[in-house]
Amino acid sequence: MTSEASWVPAEVDISTPSAARLYDYYLGGAYNFETDRELAKKIFDVFPEMPYLAQVNRAFLRRATKFCAEQGITQFVDIGCGLPTTGAVHEIAQAVNPDSRVLYVDNEPVAVAHSELILEDNDRAAVIQADLRDPDSIFGHPHATRLLDRDQPLAVLVVAVVHFVPDSDDPAGLLARYRDAMTPGSYLAFSHVSGDTLPNVAKAAELYRNSQNPAYLRTRDEVAAMLTGFELVDPGLVFVPQWRPADPRDAEDAERCSFYGAVGRVTG
Ligand SMILES: C[S@@+](CC[C@H](N)C(=O)[O-])C[C@H]1O[C@@H](n2cnc3c(N)ncnc32)[C@H](O)[C@@H]1O
Repeated sequence: MTSEASWVPAEVDISTPSAARLYDYYLGGAYNFETDRELAKKIFDVFPEMPYLAQVNRAFLRRATKFCAEQGITQFVDIGCGLPTTGAVHEIAQAVNPDSRVLYVDNEPVAVAHSELILEDNDRAAVIQADLRDPDSIFGHPHATRLLDRDQPLAVLVVAVVHFVPDSDDPAGLLARYRDAMTPGSYLAFSHVSGDTLPNVAKAAELYRNSQNPAYLRTRDEVAAMLTGFELVDPGLVFVPQWRPADPRDAEDAERCSFYGAVGRVTG
């Protein structure tokens, strides 16, 4: 992929790798640049499990979306959506209920430009460029007011993104703000990377300091504290392959993953 490609937004910084494009590369996508691939290769040298992590995390996002849709949720906000590939949130939600509406949010211009292309013909889904740390700018955006009925339950998907929020931005306080903004009966789907079981994740996190998105590892207790006030649905906070696996064998090797995930309900 080169900077001449017609979809590359003018404001994109291709000289510094971004989490969205690195993740796209891990998943075998084409929306990344040489600088992203160079850093990805250094990351693979210290932490070869990275593509596995991306795959099992994406699979968790899909299962959590389907779960919420099956609970009757028809409106979704996917924050830190990255580059939607096959099996994106709107495809899963609209397969359960064609009336489902999806607002995608990312602060990375390539992720937003790519999502715009994918969603061109879908009037029940849209993408906005906004920051997770500013919920008001997300819920106040014209696409949010068009697509979402805030008096009805919704699902907020905050998957593999809060580890890019430093402690100084109070991630637990941020999740509490989302919780307070969600009608009872709403759901949060959440995942967060940790170094609890794989010490080499820390080496990969160190390399992320060379990207636009430094990453912060947190322990299981720290992740659990962020979910205070949400009623976690069974099986609670687990490694993502252990969260309602399609096949029990998918969870056998879960500790190789180091990604914690949960789905929580807002009870009012
Ligand atoms: C690892 S990807 C996860 C993509 C998707 N949620 C998934 O789990 O498959 C993280 C995404 O979060 C985005 N991101 C990082 N910090 C963000 C912020 N403060 N606000 C919005 N998006 C952010 C990145 O641009 C990237 O697309």
